[in-house]
Amino acid sequence: MKIITFYNQKGGVGKTSLTFNIAYLFSLKYRTVMWDLDTQGALSMVSQSPRDKFNDYDKIFKKKGRIRKRTFLTKWDNLFVIPAGEDLNDLGVSLFDFKKSGKVAGDIAKKLSDDFDVMIIDPQATKSLLIENIIKASDYIYMPVIPNSVNMKLIDDNISFIQSCKAGRKIAGIIPNMTDLRKKVHQESIEELKKNYSALYMDVFIPSCSKMEEIYLRLQPIELFAKRSKAALALREIYQKIEAKIL
Ligand SMILES: Nc1ncnc2c1ncn2[C@@H]1O[C@H](COP(=O)(O)OP(=O)(O)OP(=O)(O)O)[C@@H](O)[C@H]1O
Ligand SMILES: [Mg+2]
Repeated sequence: MKIITFYNQKGGVGKTSLTFNIAYLFSLKYRTVMWDLDTQGALSMVSQSPRDKFNDYDKIFKKKGRIRKRTFLTKWDNLFVIPAGEDLNDLGVSLFDFKKSGKVAGDIAKKLSDDFDVMIIDPQATKSLLIENIIKASDYIYMPVIPNSVNMKLIDDNISFIQSCKAGRKIAGIIPNMTDLRKKVHQESIEELKKNYSALYMDVFIPSCSKMEEIYLRLQPIELFAKRSKAALALREIYQKIEAKIL
């Protein structure tokens, strides 16, 4: 099982949207599971998985054998989700009690390695011990960014944080999202990505597109209701690039 995470410490850049849409595309060919590790539970909501009933992370983390019970099929074949529950709030704290406190999420993910080909983790926008766990558990980390000044300034900080988790080599690409090339700052940021982060530049960006916002309303990946939109096209291209790299 290959584990991908869309990570950026910055909020609202498209981590959940990418997780949901790219996971759906993977599920057309591979057994795929999404792991919602954000207390906001947006991924659990959009994938219509049961929420807020859970109080078992403590047991999952201590016994490490119960994660299957928390893994649900979505309404799409081959696409599963591990929902966020209220217990995620305490998780960050209880991790400190473990000896290998940075490797607990990876140990849990391993329990599912025979069941799935691909796992995509949706993390919270922060830096924390739980994020360190997620980064260490991941095989590939992609960084969605909005091509603007604040996001560009945070790229190096994100990279340093990932490197501090000894996972620098896992950073597989930067994905510009909500891009509007009519804006000079977006054009310049894309140029900066090409020049300063050439090894991570993927030569594809997701345009700003109102259809992307509709996924939270329609509770469907964009592929199912706006297949011909520019955003859906970009997501298919990103999916192909990720698939070619990891499988
Ligand atoms: N390409 C896009 N065009 C327009 N809107 C988008 C696009 N991608 C995402 N959005 C919207 O931007 C908002 C933030 O996206 P999303 O929730 O995926 O980000 P996030 O990084 O997971 O946020 P958080 O840090 O809060 O978890 C959402 O309202 C989403 O619908
Ligand atoms: Mg999110």
